[in-house]
Amino acid sequence: MQLDINGLTPEQFLNEYWQKKPLVIRQGFKQFQDLLSPDEMAGLACEEMVESRRVYQKNGEWQAEFGPFDSYEHLGEQDWTLIVQALNNWVPEAEELLKCFDFIPRWRLDDVMVSYAVPGGGVGPHIDLYDVFICQGSGRRRWRVGDKGPHKEFAAHPALLHTEAFEPIIDVELLPGDILYLPPGFPHDGVTLEPSMSFSVGYRTASTKDMVSALADHLIDKDLGASQINDPDRPLSHNPGLVSEQDLARLKQQLIDTLDDNLVSEFSGRYLTQSKCELDLPEQNLGFQVDDIQSIITEQPLIRLGGLRCLYFANSVDAGVIYINGEQLELGSEYSEFVKLVCDKQQLGKDNLAMWLNNNAVMAQLTAWVNAGFWYFEERD
Ligand code: SIN
Ligand code: CO
Repeated sequence: MQLDINGLTPEQFLNEYWQKKPLVIRQGFKQFQDLLSPDEMAGLACEEMVESRRVYQKNGEWQAEFGPFDSYEHLGEQDWTLIVQALNNWVPEAEELLKCFDFIPRWRLDDVMVSYAVPGGGVGPHIDLYDVFICQGSGRRRWRVGDKGPHKEFAAHPALLHTEAFEPIIDVELLPGDILYLPPGFPHDGVTLEPSMSFSVGYRTASTKDMVSALADHLIDKDLGASQINDPDRPLSHNPGLVSEQDLARLKQQLIDTLDDNLVSEFSGRYLTQSKCELDLPEQNLGFQVDDIQSIITEQPLIRLGGLRCLYFANSVDAGVIYINGEQLELGSEYSEFVKLVCDKQQLGKDNLAMWLNNNAVMAQLTAWVNAGFWYFEERD
C-alpha cells in the first residue's frame, strides 16, 4: 500500500496542510482494498472487548447506540452507520495503512476507525478536536466541509455533539482510494451515497487538564513533587492580605521547577503509551522459552501487536529507557539501540535482531514480551 498525497512530499504536506487546512487527496491509494468486509466488521462489533457504535435517524431524531451488537435487521437499508474504533488493535491489515502515515510519529496517533454506512447514513454535521485522514474504501460518500469559525454546537442526542448548518468550502464525492484530510476545528458532514466503508486514521493530543490530572496521579504514585517554597529573602510586608507579584512568581516557579525534562518524559512516556481501548492480549503467559524464540525467529519475524504503544525519548534512550504499554523500563545504556529498534520497527526479523540474538538480557526481555502477547509470530502452532 502506497500513499500519494496529490504529488506532495510528506514534508510539503506537513508544511502546507497539517493542522492548517483541509485537503482532498484524489487516489491517495491506488486500487485501495477494504481492510475487512462489512460481515467481518459486524463480527467485531458483536465482541464485548471491541468499541463500536451505531448512529441513525428515527422519525427525524438522531439516535446513537453502543455495542456489542448482534442484530441489524430492524435498521433497514437506509440512513444508518456502524462504527468500530481501534480497528488496528484487532485487524493486522490496518497496520499497513498506518505505516503509510509514519511521517507523523506514532505517539500522535489515536487509532484507525472504520465506518460502514448504508445510503443516507452518516453521523451528522460535527467538529472534531483531532486531525484525521478519512480514507474512502468501497462505495461513494459525499463530504461537505466548512471553514473554521464560531460554529454553534449542540447535543443532537446525549452522545452526538452536532454543529449547526455551515457554508461548505469543500463539497466532494469521495471514491474508493480518495482521502479527505481534516485538521481540528473544521465542521464536516459525510453522507453515504451507496453502501460504503471508510477508514479514518485519527490523531490525538491530550488537553492540559487531562495531562495535569494524570501528572498529579504520577506525582502521588511515585511520591514526587515534595519540594516547598523557600523564601529566606522575604521582604517586609505592609499588606498582610496581599500575595505580592514576587510571591506569585515564586508560586509559579515552584510549579515550573517541578516540570523538568526528566519528570515530563517519565510521566508522559507512561501516559502516552497507555492504551485507551482493549488490546488483543492472551489471558495467560504463553510459555515461550528463550531458545524457542531464537529458533522460530530464523523462520519468521516477530510482529508487534496492533495498538501496542511503545516509545523512547531523546533525553533517556542513551540509558536504554523504553516506555511500553504504560510502563517505564530502564534496560541500561548498552541496550539503547535495541530500544530504538523495537520502537521504530513494527516487525523484528532475524536480520535486524542479529546482533541481539545471543544476548541473554535482550532475549529474556523479548521472550517476556512475547509471552505477554506484545509481539507475536504470525504462524502460531
Ligand atoms: C464516519 O466515518 O462516519 C464519521 C467520521 C467523522 O466524520 O469523523
Ligand atoms: Co468527524
